[in-house]
Amino acid sequence: MKQLAIIPGDGIGKEVIAAGMEVLDAVSEISSFQFEPEYVNIGSDRYLETGELLTDEDIKLLKSKDAIYFGAIGDPRVKPGVLEQGILLKMRAVFDQYINLRPVTSWFPLVPLKREVDFDIHFLRENTEDFYMGANGFFGPNNGGNKAHVHVKRELYDLDIDLEAKASNDDDFAFEIGLLSKKAVTRFADYACRYALARGDKKVTLVDKANVITTNYGMQRQIFQEKTKEYGLDLEFMFVDAMAMAMIVRPETFGTVAVPNLFGDILTDLGAQLQGGLGMGGSGNINPEGVSMFEPIHGSAPDIAGQGKANPIAAILAAQMLLENQGFPEEGRMLHDAVRKSLDTNMTTPDLGGKLKTAEVGKHIADYVRSQKN
Ligand code: NAD
Ligand code: IPM
Ligand code: MN
Repeated sequence: MKQLAIIPGDGIGKEVIAAGMEVLDAVSEISSFQFEPEYVNIGSDRYLETGELLTDEDIKLLKSKDAIYFGAIGDPRVKPGVLEQGILLKMRAVFDQYINLRPVTSWFPLVPLKREVDFDIHFLRENTEDFYMGANGFFGPNNGGNKAHVHVKRELYDLDIDLEAKASNDDDFAFEIGLLSKKAVTRFADYACRYALARGDKKVTLVDKANVITTNYGMQRQIFQEKTKEYGLDLEFMFVDAMAMAMIVRPETFGTVAVPNLFGDILTDLGAQLQGGLGMGGSGNINPEGVSMFEPIHGSAPDIAGQGKANPIAAILAAQMLLENQGFPEEGRMLHDAVRKSLDTNMTTPDLGGKLKTAEVGKHIADYVRSQKN
């Protein structure tokens, strides 16, 4: 019996998780995958009511689960960053979910490229460091003086960083530090190599901007060089700008792609669009030894929330990843096939050209799963 925490969150998160839960229920009706869901109220509504984001109590509860199924957070009533940093990024950090797996698959006929091309790129986004550490602040005469202090606490280290401007300086500054640690890059590279081998890929592609951000990404290149050599894999370096272009021109040439946090965020939205849109991108925040969290890559989509227009497939593909992660690959495969079927029969939401509501797509996919009972 798998213990699952369900966090629908905000906006369309609620709608797509409802559809995903119907599908997981169907899976449990016809297979040995059995689960007990516990809904956890985390998101903007609770924040606006109580001021709570991700509390110690939430963390304790979530720690006791096998996995987390998450919708989305984000609310126009709340200042950008508060929910994102206080809930989602905090969750990835405290559970040390250091791999963000985001597949980009050619779901025909949704691929928007001129050339018909088959691809299956698996992005592994480093999920705890880079410019996502919250290592930020201000200094300057109108910003508390010429000194700033940053405290960063992660599973791997606890840092205090002091910054100081010349006392004579009369300007104000804002900063956001992008940090990489050797330990985090090493475990990331190790995971990427093992992932590539398991997939049968001969190479790992590492995306960076080592021609400008030379220190961080230079160190990362060196570590990936050592690791890929150790595992007998080829290593391909791509600058992120060229990678954005190459994803359009030759997506079929990529397999396992390792990418630091910020660039990974950007490239995987592009990747989602290569699959037909944000409603097609599933995502797993993975701690190989701990509690992992599965979510669509899209946000709360306030522009369409509450209208039944949201495509639930990204959330359903996230459920597929949850099943695979929990040791149910055949059941995961069933969801993949069910999504394929709903595309083939045009049982889709308007973003994919269909006429169905979110819940109807969920029901269609759940019914297909039920029909697979043998
Ligand atoms: P978004 O992903 O919410 O939406 C971008 C566009 O894609 C919108 O036009 C939306 O209608 C469309 N879209 C997204 N998902 C869709 C789906 N399933 N079906 C059909 N159309 C879909 O990104 P945004 O508008 O930049 O951000 C809105 C809020 O969500 C912000 O507060 C942001 O911080 C937050 N956000 C949260 C997550 C997350 O929880 N993982 C991810 C991204 C953004
Ligand atoms: C995503 C989102 C998040 C990110 C935000 C909401 C913090 O865009 O999951 O892709 O940048 O990782
Ligand atoms: Mn994103």
